[in-house]
Parts: sequence; C-alpha cells; structure tokens
Amino acid sequence: MSVLITGGTGYIGSITCVKLLAAGENIVVVDNLCNSEYSVVDRIKTISGKEFPFYKVDVRDKAELKRIFIKHDIEACIHFAGLKAVSESIGVPLEYYDNNIGGTIKLLEVMKEAYVKKFVFSSSATVYGSNKPPFSEDMPIGMETTNPYGTTKLFIEKILRDLSISDPEWGIALLRYFNPLGADESGLLGDDPNGIPTNLMPYIQRVAVNKLPQLSIFGNDYPTKDGTCIRDYIHVSDLARGHLNAIERIRRTSGIDVWNLGTGIGYSVLDIVNTFIEVNNVDIPYVFAPRRDGDVAVSYCNSSKAERDLHFKTEKTPDDMCRDSFRFIKNLKSGDI
Ligand code: NAD
Ligand code: UD1
Repeated sequence: MSVLITGGTGYIGSITCVKLLAAGENIVVVDNLCNSEYSVVDRIKTISGKEFPFYKVDVRDKAELKRIFIKHDIEACIHFAGLKAVSESIGVPLEYYDNNIGGTIKLLEVMKEAYVKKFVFSSSATVYGSNKPPFSEDMPIGMETTNPYGTTKLFIEKILRDLSISDPEWGIALLRYFNPLGADESGLLGDDPNGIPTNLMPYIQRVAVNKLPQLSIFGNDYPTKDGTCIRDYIHVSDLARGHLNAIERIRRTSGIDVWNLGTGIGYSVLDIVNTFIEVNNVDIPYVFAPRRDGDVAVSYCNSSKAERDLHFKTEKTPDDMCRDSFRFIKNLKSGDI
C-alpha cells in the first residue's frame, strides 16, 4: 500500500516525502513541476536512501491519474499540489480556480472511482480572514478572504465537507498551515520558488546570498510591539511531521476534521530578520515599505487541538528555521545541489 503525494517535489511536499519514507511508508509522487524541478526527486532519494515512483503529471489530467491508481495500490492521498502566490492569484484568478479547485475535484473523482477515501488537504491560515487571533478551528470562516488563492482554500474546504456528508466513509483531514520556514536538516531541500519570491523567508534567503539587494519590510505601523506584522512561523520539518500524524489519524477514523498546524507563538517580521542576521552572522539590508494589500496585522493559532487529537507538538525554534534556511540557500548557490 502506498500514500500518493501530489505536489511532492514542492517545498512542503518534498520534506513530507522524506518524513514518510523515514517512517517506513511507501509513497508515489505526482507533480507537474510548474513550481519545482526534477532534481528534487533525486535529492529525496539521496536523503532517504529509498526508491519511489515519480510521475510528471498534472492533477487535472484524469486519464493519467487513473493510470497511476490502476498501477499502484494507493490507500490515501496527501494533496499539496496547487498554486500559492497570493499576489499572482489576484491577476490570474481563473488559473487559480482551475488549478486548485479544478485539480482537487479531478483528483477526488479518480479517488472515488478507485475506492480510495483517505485524504489530507493543505489548507491555510488565510481562511480565518479577519477573525481575532489566536485562531481556533471552531471559529466561523467564510466571510472574507482577501485574494483568489485564499478563496480556493476556503472553497476546497467546503467541497470536502460536502463530500464527507455525501459519503461518511471518507476520512478527511483539513490541515490549516501557519507560516512554514526553514529547510530539511540535510540542507538539500527547502523553499526556492521560481521567479522573485513573494514570501518572507525565500526573499531573505536571496538577500543573504546577494541575489537580491535588500528586503522590503511591508509596514512598520501595525499595532504590534515593533510595528511589523506578527506571524506563527513553524519549522517546515515540524509541519511535514504533522502529516504523518494526520495520516495515522484518518487511517483509524472516518468523517472530516480540521487542525491548525502552527506553534501557537507569534513573532514579528523584525524578530525573524534579526534572528536570521544573528544566528547566521550575515547582513540582511532592509528598508521599511508601505503595508502590503491583504496582510493581516497578527496571525497565530491555538495549537491545542492538533496536540490533543494528533499528538502533534512542534520542536524547532526560529533559530533552527533561520539556520536551516541559510544552509539550504548556500548549498543552492554554491551549486552543491
Ligand atoms: P510549492 O509551490 O513549493 O509546492 C506545490 C507543488 O505543486 C509544486 O511542486 C508544483 O509544481 C505542484 N503543482 C502545482 N499545480 C499542480 C498541478 N495542477 N498538478 C500537479 N502538480 C502541481 O508550495 P508549498 O509551499 O510546498 O505548498 C504546498 C501546499 O501547501 C499548497 O497547496 C499551498 O497552497 C499550501 N500552503 C502553503 C503555505 C506556505 O506558506 N508555503 C501555507 C499554507 C498552505
Ligand atoms: C501568505 C498568505 C497565506 C499563504 C502563504 C503561503 C495571505 C494573507 N497570506 O502568508 O495565505 O498560505 O502566504 O503562500 O493571504 N513580508 C515582508 N517582506 C517581504 C515578504 C513578506 O515584509 O518581502 C512580510 C509580510 O508582510 C508578512 C510576513 O512577512 O507580514 C509574512 O509574509 P509571507 O511570507 O508572504 O506570508 P503570509 O502573508 O503570512
């Protein structure tokens, strides 16, 4: 039996593959490589010392997906595949709806036909909109999302709830990620998006290796301790590990449930920049820039439900996140990976 990982060569997916292989799981990986590259497959194999099948397939391609489900004994799916650039989504909403929502529906259709009904979905803290932090899973959501990307996450959550009502045999975990930072401890896998990064750490990483001149910090007039936004940064290895706990849980249960994956602690943008400078002994020139549209001032979670139900507890600190991110980007720059 294997777990299908869609988007498995991406940032979070690749590190989750490493964790699953280390735990003795068999995996089948699908990715269309629109935001990742084939070399990641080899790097996952190098780190884990294990083999697995990889398919360069778009999840919207039902015929190809069906072939994969016929060829392999799939028992569950972790669905990372999707587009995630918030600002891009505002310019090309139809691409986001087609890829994220359309892709998820095609995948679910193929799973249903194959009688595979265990599903873990990558949702986002963005669905909490303007609720008051700490965000907990029982808060009402659905009033506001600030961009089409966020709306795709909200709609997919709703689609999965409807699916679960229609057929209670489905076991579905909605995982609302807070802000993943860091890289695999090997230094071989991390966050290196195509094009100019829009997320904080990939941007800092490129400034650190002189690929970009300076960081713009969006807003220093928020009602926070230093005026910059607060986020719940979680080490990507902790986040990846959370998927193992979620798979374990839905193997034993059916129905749908939702869990925050975060640390429950908020740090400011300046905290992260200063930590990066300190632990890596490197300069990160920055300027303060106007607020970015759609940003909320403060986002952090109540992490107690994941701790209670999934026995999930984060272990790593912002120091680890910054150290691991720098190690990864140095390896990438030097051509070692
Ligand atoms: P990523 O872009 O690094 O990985 C996504 C992968 O999916 C990429 O390798 C891409 O090539 C692939 N992909 C995209 N569309 C596809 C399609 N139609 N068919 C097949 N493959 C496709 O992103 P990530 O940071 O690893 O995020 C993984 C998931 O987690 C995404 O769904 C994202 O929205 C969600 N998420 C990410 C964050 C974050 O901060 N990184 C936060 C919350 C939620
Ligand atoms: C965003 C999305 C979230 C999505 C995640 C991954 C929103 C509101 N947020 O999270 O849904 O899941 O990306 O794609 O839709 N910052 C700077 N300078 C930069 C980059 C970022 O100051 O160059 C600041 C931002 O203003 C923010 C913090 O750093 O305060 C984190 O930003 P980012 O990494 O983009 O994540 P979010 O916006 O929290």
